[in-house]
Amino acid sequence: MRQTDFLVIGSGIAGLTYALKVAHQFPDKKVVVMTKATADETNTKYAQGGIAVVNDLENDSFEKHIEDTLIAGDGICNEKVVEIVVKEGPERVQEIIDWGARFDKEGDGDYKRGKEGGHSEFRILHHKDVTGKEMERALIDAVAKQTNIEFIKHCFVIDIITQHHLGYLITKSTPDIECYGVYVLNLETNKIEKILSKITLLATGGNGQVYRTTTNPYIATGDGVAMVYRAKGRIENMEFIQFHPTALYEPGVRGQAFLITEAVRGDGGILRNKNGDAFMERYDPRKDLAPRDIVARAIDSEMKRTGTEHVWLDCRHFSKEKFVEHFPNIYEKCISIGIDITKHMIPVAPAAHYSCGGIKTDEWGRSSIKNLYACGECASTGLHGANRLASNSLLEAMVFAHRCFIDVAEKVKSISFNMFLPDWNAEGTTDPKEMILITQSLKELQLIMSDYVGIVRNDIRLQRASRRLDLLWEETEQLYQSSSLSPQLLELRNMISVGYLIVKGASFRKESRGLHFNTDYPGKSHLVQNIVL
Ligand code: FAD
Ligand code: SIN
Repeated sequence: MRQTDFLVIGSGIAGLTYALKVAHQFPDKKVVVMTKATADETNTKYAQGGIAVVNDLENDSFEKHIEDTLIAGDGICNEKVVEIVVKEGPERVQEIIDWGARFDKEGDGDYKRGKEGGHSEFRILHHKDVTGKEMERALIDAVAKQTNIEFIKHCFVIDIITQHHLGYLITKSTPDIECYGVYVLNLETNKIEKILSKITLLATGGNGQVYRTTTNPYIATGDGVAMVYRAKGRIENMEFIQFHPTALYEPGVRGQAFLITEAVRGDGGILRNKNGDAFMERYDPRKDLAPRDIVARAIDSEMKRTGTEHVWLDCRHFSKEKFVEHFPNIYEKCISIGIDITKHMIPVAPAAHYSCGGIKTDEWGRSSIKNLYACGECASTGLHGANRLASNSLLEAMVFAHRCFIDVAEKVKSISFNMFLPDWNAEGTTDPKEMILITQSLKELQLIMSDYVGIVRNDIRLQRASRRLDLLWEETEQLYQSSSLSPQLLELRNMISVGYLIVKGASFRKESRGLHFNTDYPGKSHLVQNIVL
């Protein structure tokens, strides 16, 4: 059994930012960071466009960034949280620069600022088209220098430990549900261990893998959300799944889709349909730089209308030199599959990209479970409302990592370990006879979610999804109760829960708002605000 004052689950921007701050503040205490994969296999690593921040007060203002965020969020952002993130953002960005992250600069030393959909100003700092990779590198380097951080890789967190594990009956209305630590499957020893912690931070990222086509890597399976839901904590606004308009369309390629950053449209890229029409002008006066929900729905509609599986992104008018300078990674990827962006258009289609909802937190990152915090993509802080403004998530993760740190720094002194927790009970379980059943169920789940709970929804589709998920859940639960655990089975179980939460949220929301579009309720209802499950 291991015990630690501070346990951090997840090694993306949210988890590592928090870990660095806590470790620095408490040099005599150990901070444990756990990840189920390698250190840097995170959504963070794949962020391309950059981080939205107001750091040019001559041409931009906090008010404009706040206004853009509220417009994208379509009426249900928490205005106080929006103001917090926008105004505290510049200080957090300066911190990661001080830790060694590099953002592109002009010849005169000022930062280069990009633009993406929904932004009224050029305010996105970036490192070419690999901003996340650079930020993750800087964070991992800083963590390596901090001797009181223990980084444990290949450790899959199964569940948070609460009074439920002491034999108490816990329901959603139980007051003061408390987190005492976690059970983890050590993927190197294949043993299930118990970790006691005073304060636990969930920074487990997104859930794009619930869908057949996603920009998210394989780790994005919504584990943190599923764990909190099982522990009877509050989950919010799961129906707001953001589909990125422009993932590279590669027929036959399964798994993570390569992203073509919105910054390409920010620099002048034009979407065209099968007939070569620049169709966005028919959908929104902001054309290719309208917020993502509008662009993704427009592409979906053009694909359905013209019977194609993708549209085109036209960059043929770019200077090759400028394109390569800003987007070297995209240029290389395109060349590797025979697309020369100066001569050919890029085939693109929408893909599941970002979860706006998640573990409900307050403005200090506290979840509804005592001593359990959440930040980054797994959390629902109120910043994004019904649709996230592009490049606001890296900023949100850093601002809330800091706020969690501020809140726990005092609190930790008054918490003691609970020494009476039982070990994991694996009695009566055996190795599953057919692992292929898990793979097949996963494919089924992804099909159900993509076919019935995608960009355009309606009640019949949601009901179908719900019925099919019930069956998948039943079958998977049987497997879970009788089998020795594997990461594949744990992820499948978590993803079915996440699918269920998305469908449930979508079914309760009898309106169309932001990313949730239901053809049975095309207008907005003033009665529906945040949906908490
Ligand atoms: P992540 O970075 O995803 O980290 C999650 C961590 O949790 C990982 O270490 C994972 O292993 C661990 N984990 C998960 N489950 C478990 C478990 N059960 N046990 C143990 N460990 C677990 N946002 C922007 O603001 N700007 C951009 O330009 C941008 N571009 C993007 C491009 C792409 C292709 C993608 C996919 C996303 C992009 N985003 C962008 C979104 C942004 O990258 C993410 O929202 C953000 O990085 C999430 O950070 P995080 O720390 O919350 O989670
Ligand atoms: C992109 O670069 O287009 C993604 C930006 C984001 O998701 O915020």
